[in-house]
Amino acid sequence: MKKELILEIIQERWSPYAFSSNPVEDYKLKAMFEAAGYAPSCNNEQPWMFVYTTQHDEKIFSDYLGFMVDSNKVWAKYAYAIGISMARTKFLYNGKPNRHAFHDTGMAVSNLLLQALTMDVYVHQMAGFSVEKVREYFNLTDEIEPVAMMAIGYLGDGNSLSPELLKRDEKRRPRKSVNEFVFKNLLSKPAF
Ligand SMILES: Cc1cc2nc3c(=O)[nH]c(=O)nc-3n(C[C@H](O)[C@H](O)[C@H](O)COP(=O)(O)O)c2cc1C
Repeated sequence: MKKELILEIIQERWSPYAFSSNPVEDYKLKAMFEAAGYAPSCNNEQPWMFVYTTQHDEKIFSDYLGFMVDSNKVWAKYAYAIGISMARTKFLYNGKPNRHAFHDTGMAVSNLLLQALTMDVYVHQMAGFSVEKVREYFNLTDEIEPVAMMAIGYLGDGNSLSPELLKRDEKRRPRKSVNEFVFKNLLSKPAF
């Protein structure tokens, strides 16, 4: 059910399994990452980093797929692009740990998802991948942490997906009611 006051773009965003391999225009990809960069961050550190590849770079695309667990590979391989978000976990200005780095990177991704959808591009994020493989592949120092992978592309017909996966795309995924996660004054008191 649609909620009146909530931005439509927020309500319409979802994470599909059925991707088309049709190319997403470079200018759209750029706009998505630029939108990510508008996110607020602790001390304006902008601790996020993104690396992505597309099906045009066959070998690298296949390397990225290789980071994923099989259950993600089976559908993500049809997406036009695959991205990885990373976070710099130390402040550049003083070298101290930035405990907000993941939080801020998540906010940047949230901008990216919404910007993508305004251009009919869908994003499905993944935690199901090997952080170690990513670390090794990109030769990451301890100060950079892989956060999430994401499949990026236009919606597809899902013809190549299993019926179980296709079924998952049939309905939007349920949300908790606001009273389950918002409290007023004390954590024992639902707010609304
Ligand atoms: C950090 C993160 C990790 C996720 N990991 C996976 C994953 O490994 N595999 C998968 O199929 N979906 C994954 N998802 C997608 C979620 O399951 C999905 O966002 C959630 O069920 C809500 O559905 P919606 O995005 O369609 O609204 C992930 C989402 C996030 C934000």
